[in-house]
Amino acid sequence: MTQVPSITLNDGVEIPQLGFGTFQIAPDETVDATLEALDTGYRHIDTAQMYGNEAEVGQAVRKSGIDRSELFVTSKLNNGFHEPERAMQAFDESIERLDIDYLDLFLIHWPLPTIDVDYVDTWKAMEKMKATGKVRSIGVSNFEIEHLQRLFDETDTVPSVNQIEVHPYWPQTPLRGFNRNHEIMTEAWSPIAQGDVLDEQVLADIGERLDKTPAQVVLRWHIQRGDIVFPKSVHPERMRENFDIFDVELEADDMMAIDALAKGDGRRGPDPATFDYIPD
Ligand SMILES: NC(=O)c1ccc[n+]([C@@H]2O[C@H](COP(=O)([O-])OP(=O)(O)OC[C@H]3O[C@@H](n4cnc5c(N)ncnc54)[C@H](OP(=O)(O)O)[C@@H]3O)[C@@H](O)[C@H]2O)c1
Repeated sequence: MTQVPSITLNDGVEIPQLGFGTFQIAPDETVDATLEALDTGYRHIDTAQMYGNEAEVGQAVRKSGIDRSELFVTSKLNNGFHEPERAMQAFDESIERLDIDYLDLFLIHWPLPTIDVDYVDTWKAMEKMKATGKVRSIGVSNFEIEHLQRLFDETDTVPSVNQIEVHPYWPQTPLRGFNRNHEIMTEAWSPIAQGDVLDEQVLADIGERLDKTPAQVVLRWHIQRGDIVFPKSVHPERMRENFDIFDVELEADDMMAIDALAKGDGRRGPDPATFDYIPD
């Protein structure tokens, strides 16, 4: 069976470099999709309170019969729950919904720098969550350099990961460099740009030489850059395709050709500096 490399985070916790993303998987599809992913060999699942499918992810994990210690489950604090007491309560509710005893990783989903509650106070609540032993590792998502800098200056814990939008159109070179210099692992969300990047001829050309699809070539580019990825698919054949990326190596020229797809504003998702969405 394919061996997914694991990466050791700055707190000693090990995380599989390839996982399964669950954004936009409807709750009534999530048990089957997650079970299929686990059956394919994925051992790392990325969910969030905002996705509305934590309970179903937890059901799939229990139904799979796979030992909990072999799995890595991430969730994220929803926007609107940044105030420290609400954050603690929302964290407990995630554990209850998932019903899997503990989380491997919990993230602040968005910094929301334009709203009243200061993400630094939220991060201090995250430190308390870790102290309960109900989460092994804590990190952030969509944090820009200035947000991370405030955590370094005003708190005692460096996030283990920063989960940010990264794909060939939006390679995030400065922020990834900053993460790396501070021993924060970059997790790349929307790694295939939600499918948008797959028609690029350069990916087809590289794939033809290596007998891989464009999606596999892009995912391989992420793996060789050292980032953690979790492509989402509800289709079993695509789950298998996205998992089958550990028997080839891109050459330096291939990596550079994919780097050249970067666009000035290649972002697909919102800008974390202004994003202020609070779900109802
Ligand atoms: N922290 C954050 O703010 C944040 C934001 C966005 C995403 N995320 C996380 O990152 C994960 C991945 O990002 P994402 O879901 O936005 O986008 P993605 O993984 O880049 O792309 C998913 C899309 O590509 C399609 N797809 C998947 N594999 C394919 C393949 N081999 N060939 C062709 N099409 C394929 C999927 O369709 P089908 O499902 O129909 O196959 C879906 O439409 C999410 O699920 C979530 O866990 C986090």
